[in-house]
Amino acid sequence: MAIERTLSIIKPNAVVKHNIGAIIQRLEAANFKIVATKMIKLNQEQAEGFYAEHKGKPFFDALIDFMLSAPVVVLVLESESAITAYREIMGATNPVDAARGTLRADYGEAHVTFNGVHGSDSPESAAREIAYFFSDNEVNSY
Ligand code: TYD
Ligand code: MG
Repeated sequence: MAIERTLSIIKPNAVVKHNIGAIIQRLEAANFKIVATKMIKLNQEQAEGFYAEHKGKPFFDALIDFMLSAPVVVLVLESESAITAYREIMGATNPVDAARGTLRADYGEAHVTFNGVHGSDSPESAAREIAYFFSDNEVNSY
């Protein structure tokens, strides 16, 4: 067990539906420490670069269009085993399959593309994704 950091994104549908505060409240209640955050209106290049591993897949263009449709809130979360702990409270990729009480069950739509939140899936992707949005001096310790 170790203290880790992971990247969370509150996606456009959740922002538009005024669920930023509710999601942040859930993160803090679940004992994640928010050590960095900002709101960004992604451009095409930023969105495609972030999701580069999915380029060429059938859902890629729709995913990018969705991510460009409104601003997102990106956050760095810190906790014991943050990467797997956050994947657990986030729930399955498709909100239809997400366990009751998970963020995707509560703030995603009934369609996999519009699932409300993102979370890094491994230590390697967490490091890449945090660095993608934040410089070292924007990530705090307290
Ligand atoms: P993926 O990395 O597989 O899921 P996760 O976000 O749980 O790590 O996919 C990235 C995003 O792509 C996912 O959050 C929603 C979207 N997506 C689709 O639109 N359709 C699909 O069939 C899949 C697998 C993902
Ligand atoms: Mg993923």
